[in-house]
Amino acid sequence: MDFKIEKMTISDLEEIKDVLEKDFDDFWKVNTLKEELLSNYSYFITIKLDKTNEILGFAGFKKTLDTADIMNIVVRKDFRNKKIGKKLLSSLIKKAKEQDIKTIFLEVNSKNLPALKLYENIGFKKIGIRKNYYKNSDGINMKIELD
Ligand SMILES: CC(C)(COP(=O)(O)OP(=O)(O)OC[C@H]1O[C@@H](n2cnc3c(N)ncnc32)[C@H](O)[C@@H]1OP(=O)(O)O)[C@@H](O)C(=O)NCCC(=O)NCCS
Repeated sequence: MDFKIEKMTISDLEEIKDVLEKDFDDFWKVNTLKEELLSNYSYFITIKLDKTNEILGFAGFKKTLDTADIMNIVVRKDFRNKKIGKKLLSSLIKKAKEQDIKTIFLEVNSKNLPALKLYENIGFKKIGIRKNYYKNSDGINMKIELD
């Protein structure tokens, strides 16, 4: 399978908005994502199947000076565990470097094992825990230094 990674646009969001909760994830609302896409401080990318242009996932960060926070990374449910998340995150980190970002932070639910694994595989380190940040679990803060 060949993939292409591009900057995410409002028309990408239009394409997936009706299946966002069902096929991707339910933790972000379409309007919040739209605001992110329109913000000068945010940068989102999509990963598409090269042949059909189908959107398989997206991810983005918000910039503050020379740091960034990962806002979201989602892979379509039927394409998970095929290293697409890894491709997305690697590309996002590359984009962050190009924008002179030195450190990337994120927060992840301690029960979200695939996400934790993905972040650790890429080189994120745990830097703190927010007890009961989520309903029945902790938030784990992680960061990666870029060179
Ligand atoms: C997190 C997410 C983006 C990962 O995407 P993906 O394409 O499946 O990621 P990858 O295939 O690159 O990596 C997933 C890793 O988790 C591992 N994994 C999967 N299920 C797991 C589990 N139950 N326990 C431990 N590890 C698990 C996989 O084996 C893989 O690790 P490996 O590469 O060492 O084998 C995807 O699961 C997703 O969209 N989740 C819903 C949204 C979400 O929670 N986003 C993160 C918010 S902070």
